[in-house]
Amino acid sequence: MSDDPLALPQVSESRLMARLEALAEIGDTGDGGCARLALTDEDRAGRDLVVGWMEDLGLEVTVDGIGNVVATQPGFDSEIAPVMCGSHIDTVRTGGRYDGNYGVLAGLEVIEAAQTAGLELTRPLAVAFFTDEEGARFAPDMLGSLAYAGGIGIEDALDIVGIDGVTVGDELRRIGYAGGAPLPGRAPHAFVEVHVEQGPVLEAEGLTIGAVTGVQGISWQEITISGQSNHAGTTPMSMRHDAGFAAFAIGAFVRGLAIEIGPPQVGTVGKIDLEPNLVNVVARTARLTVDLRNTDETELQSAEAKLVAFLGELAEREGVTIERRTLARFEPVAFDERMIGLVEATAERLGHKVRRLPSGAGHDAQMMARICPTAMVFVPSVGGISHNPAEYTSPGDLTAGTQVLLEVMCRLASGPTDPDQLYEM
Ligand code: HGY
Ligand code: MN
Ligand code: MN
Repeated sequence: MSDDPLALPQVSESRLMARLEALAEIGDTGDGGCARLALTDEDRAGRDLVVGWMEDLGLEVTVDGIGNVVATQPGFDSEIAPVMCGSHIDTVRTGGRYDGNYGVLAGLEVIEAAQTAGLELTRPLAVAFFTDEEGARFAPDMLGSLAYAGGIGIEDALDIVGIDGVTVGDELRRIGYAGGAPLPGRAPHAFVEVHVEQGPVLEAEGLTIGAVTGVQGISWQEITISGQSNHAGTTPMSMRHDAGFAAFAIGAFVRGLAIEIGPPQVGTVGKIDLEPNLVNVVARTARLTVDLRNTDETELQSAEAKLVAFLGELAEREGVTIERRTLARFEPVAFDERMIGLVEATAERLGHKVRRLPSGAGHDAQMMARICPTAMVFVPSVGGISHNPAEYTSPGDLTAGTQVLLEVMCRLASGPTDPDQLYEM
C-alpha cells in the first residue's frame, strides 16, 4: 500500500456517541435497548432523525420505492459512482443500540469528518440505511437491500404481509417513506458496512477489528401444524392430535440437529403461536418459525432435508398435518478479496491486530455484494450479546471501527476514477 497521499482526519468519538444516544432514545425500551420494528411509527421517527442529520450535512437524500434512504455528497460528475457505506436503523423488539444503527451513524461521522477536513476526493461518499434489515416484522430479512440489489421485484416486496397482518406497501405509505427513486438502485463503486460482531469471537481474542470474509447461509421457514383441539382432561393420550406437542417436538429436533451437525450449524425456533392457547385445551393449531444457518451451503441443505424428513415422520405419528412456508433463503456470501485485504491492511496501518471471520448474522452488505465490491468491518460485542438490550460495544472500539471505515472509504474514493480500478494500491 503506497504512503497515504491523503492526510486523513480523525473521526469524532463525541459526535458519534451523541448521535447513537439520540437515536437510541427513539423506541427506548427503558432497559438500555430500543425497539423500532420496520415501518412502525418508531422506525419513522428514527428515519426522520437520521434524514435530518443527512440534510444538515448538505447531502443529497433519495428515498426509493421500498423506503431505502441514500445520502450522497453533491458536486461530483453524475457519471462517477459513489463509495457507499451504510446499514439499517430498524431493530428487533429486544434491540440494542448498536446493531445496524452503528453502521449508519459511523458513515455519517465519516462524511462529516471528511467534509470538515476539506478532503479532496475523486468520488463522492454516500451513506445509506436500508429498509427492514431485521425481517422480524416483514420476512425476509435484508428486504430493502435485496430490492436495492435487484433480488426481489418491488411489487412482490410491497405485497409482503407482516406478522401483524399488514403489508409492506401499506406501512411504507403510512409512514411517508414510499419514495420515487428507482429500484434496483444504482451500483456504487464499492460498499463498506461497519457493524458490531454480535458474537463472541473478537472479544475472546482481545481484538478490536474484524475483517469479515462473508455471511453464512440463512434458511427461515414458517411451519404450520394442524391437529385437533380436545379436552385436556378427558382425552386419552393415545387419541390426541396435539399440534402443541408437535411444535415442541420440532423445537427439540432443531436443537438436536444443530448439536449433531456441530458448529457453525445453528438452529433456532424463535417464534411460536398456539391456538386456542388455553390451559385446558389440546392445541388445534401451532405456528412456529425455524431459523437454520451454516457457512456451508451443502451442509445447510442437508440440515433442511433432515428437518423435512422429521416433519413427515412426526405428522404420520401424531396424526397432524404439517405445512411449510419459506420466509427467507439466502446462500452463503463471500466478500471481495481485494476489499477484505483493504480492511485488513487499513486496520493494521492504524495499529490494530485484526483477524478474518465470517458473519453469523445477516447484513445488508451481503446483498450489496451482488452489485459491487463489498466488505464489512466488525468491532467487538461485549459478551457476544446482541438482539438484547444489554448489547454493548465500548466507545473506543466504536471509534476505532469508524476510523477504519473512514480510511477504507477515502482510499476507495481517491485516485483515478477508472471504474475498473477499485483503488490505488
Ligand atoms: O437475522 C439476522 O441475521 C439479521 O439480524 N437480520
Ligand atoms: Mn444488523
Ligand atoms: Mn439484527
